[in-house]
Amino acid sequence: MAELGFEVIGVDVDPDKVAILQGGHVPFYEPGLDEVLDRNIKAGRLRFSTSIQEAAEFADVHFICVGTPQLAGAQRADMTQVFGSIAALAPYLKPNDLVVGKSTVPVGTAHEISERLNAAAPAGVEVAWNPEFLREGFAVEDTLRPDRLVVGVRSQRAEDILREVYAPLLAINTPFLVTDFPTAELVKVAANSFLATKISFINAMAEVCEAAGADVTQLAEAIGYDPRIGNRFLSAGLGFGGGCLPKDIRAFMARAGELGADEALMFLREVDQINLRRRSHMVDLARKTLSGEFVGKSVTVLGAAFKPNSDDVRDSPSLDVAVAVSNAGAKVKVHDPKALENAARVYPNMHYEQDVMRALEGADLIIHGTEWTQYLELDPVAVAKVVNTRHVIDGRNVLDPQAWRAAGFTYRALGRPTA
Ligand code: UDX
Repeated sequence: MAELGFEVIGVDVDPDKVAILQGGHVPFYEPGLDEVLDRNIKAGRLRFSTSIQEAAEFADVHFICVGTPQLAGAQRADMTQVFGSIAALAPYLKPNDLVVGKSTVPVGTAHEISERLNAAAPAGVEVAWNPEFLREGFAVEDTLRPDRLVVGVRSQRAEDILREVYAPLLAINTPFLVTDFPTAELVKVAANSFLATKISFINAMAEVCEAAGADVTQLAEAIGYDPRIGNRFLSAGLGFGGGCLPKDIRAFMARAGELGADEALMFLREVDQINLRRRSHMVDLARKTLSGEFVGKSVTVLGAAFKPNSDDVRDSPSLDVAVAVSNAGAKVKVHDPKALENAARVYPNMHYEQDVMRALEGADLIIHGTEWTQYLELDPVAVAKVVNTRHVIDGRNVLDPQAWRAAGFTYRALGRPTA
């Protein structure tokens, strides 16, 4: 918003995060975000605070961007942060302020927030719903050049305000869709469900390819040329993780159940199962590669983040595999260019290695779990010199099988022939 020219205050309840941001740094890894942050702080358009009162009194448009993680021990979303921030904001709002929800929420939340604000905020305060589609690793680009903007509104005034807010993006012809509340809320979970389904579809094909001795990467390329299918989000491998797709499809199923529409989303259960099966399948393949025994073997896992260009380890397929292989008795070393600190916070007892060649030293098996460019650039001949036994399993189907085999490795991958 500051980059678009507005004066902005960012609020968080965590004083440490606010201090880091105010100092011009991003408290997580996101390519390009430091520069944008620094530029806008220096230009005086952006500052940070822990005072919701200060922010509320300053602004006319209030974006709610808090998290909706999976509720512990349940499949649905934990809405504490959304309703907590609304309750904290309500007493300081001014008549005619617009509260804009960006969080991914169960359908019906925008209506619920409207009711709560009707009771607790001055008359004339309105709500709009404006789902967020950015991808980690591409956050800046996705924000400044989004595929589309979706706004759920209940009045022309709310629409007009959002058209003004997004004027620079409308000027570059970004599609702008105006809907009601439930449609805007559903667009987000429908989009993420579709993406998750596409990945699980190709991973299901990978299972069949394995059974039939076929190659899923060629299959994906061949079906992807059909423009109705398209080749994006069709990479078979360890499947999806992160803070969005897994918990969003589960929360969507839970919400549909509450609405009596659970049958409609039964297939998402399968999407989730196919996805989780990839991880256990990887562990099985690793065991088989090590002649059925993990105990006494050294395994190096390349990648801890759930995807490259991120330091996010939430529901990371690669880290999950590392933990499972370690629990099964192997000596595991995990490498990641950016995510080791976060990984160590969740699993403090794993062995983390900052230097990739040191991580590979003495390995009986390499598992490639996150497709960082650094791993694609590894020289298999150099790697062959430091490992103990030459086995590699490519969990993302992006390493060059010929180059690894030429260096003496057995190269295995999910959904491809082993020969
Ligand atoms: C996702 C949505 O893409 C984004 O629009 C939404 O706003 C938030 O959730 P993100 O979680 O950043 O974004 O990751 P994404 O790029 O979608 O990847 C999700 C997972 O799927 C990763 O673990 C990735 O490795 C995996 N993936 C992706 C595949 O396994 N195969 C693919 O073909 C694509």
